[in-house]
Amino acid sequence: MTPEAFAEIMDRAYAQMRPWSAQEIANTLAAPYALMLARPKGGLIAQLIKDECEILALATDPDAQRQGVASSLLNELIELARSKGATRILLEVAHANRSARAFYATKGFALIGTRLSYYTLRDGTKDDALLLSLAIAQGQDGPAPTS
Ligand SMILES: CC(C)(COP(=O)(O)OP(=O)(O)OC[C@H]1O[C@@H](n2cnc3c(N)ncnc32)[C@H](O)[C@@H]1OP(=O)(O)O)[C@@H](O)C(=O)NCCC(=O)NCCS
Repeated sequence: MTPEAFAEIMDRAYAQMRPWSAQEIANTLAAPYALMLARPKGGLIAQLIKDECEILALATDPDAQRQGVASSLLNELIELARSKGATRILLEVAHANRSARAFYATKGFALIGTRLSYYTLRDGTKDDALLLSLAIAQGQDGPAPTS
């Protein structure tokens, strides 16, 4: 998927959050530790540094949500991260982002911290960032199976 195509999906999917521009996506992916996984209707950008894998962006086109796209992307990321020696997946999500919080909750992510007023939402208001973590070392529970 091109940065332009993923930027368009993010723009449609991110109701509250500011979406990334194609240039921001391209700049992020230029780093050697960054990676992108893609499906026709969704994508994920992460960085893999030593034992930690951080999800930087995850979006499914609104017309394809609740069909397992993000679950499939997360499953692929977990397998990849494990194979590279990562032991946990980290991410930040806005407190107001109920759908993403529900998604990560079903996958077993745990709240490990809060960053107050971390985000500026599309409407200009501030929101807290919730720091979530999922242990993925071999022998740990993985994500809920995708149907
Ligand atoms: C969060 C997001 C990526 C989920 O993508 P998705 O492809 O729809 O997710 P899946 O179909 O794999 O959902 C798996 C499960 O997560 C939960 N879930 C997903 N979206 C949900 C929602 N809006 N409300 C409640 N639960 C939800 C459900 O348990 C779902 O299983 P089910 O549909 O069988 O009930 C998508 O809503 C999105 O793109 N949101 C906007 C971008 C965003 O906020 N990204 C996260 C930034 S950290």
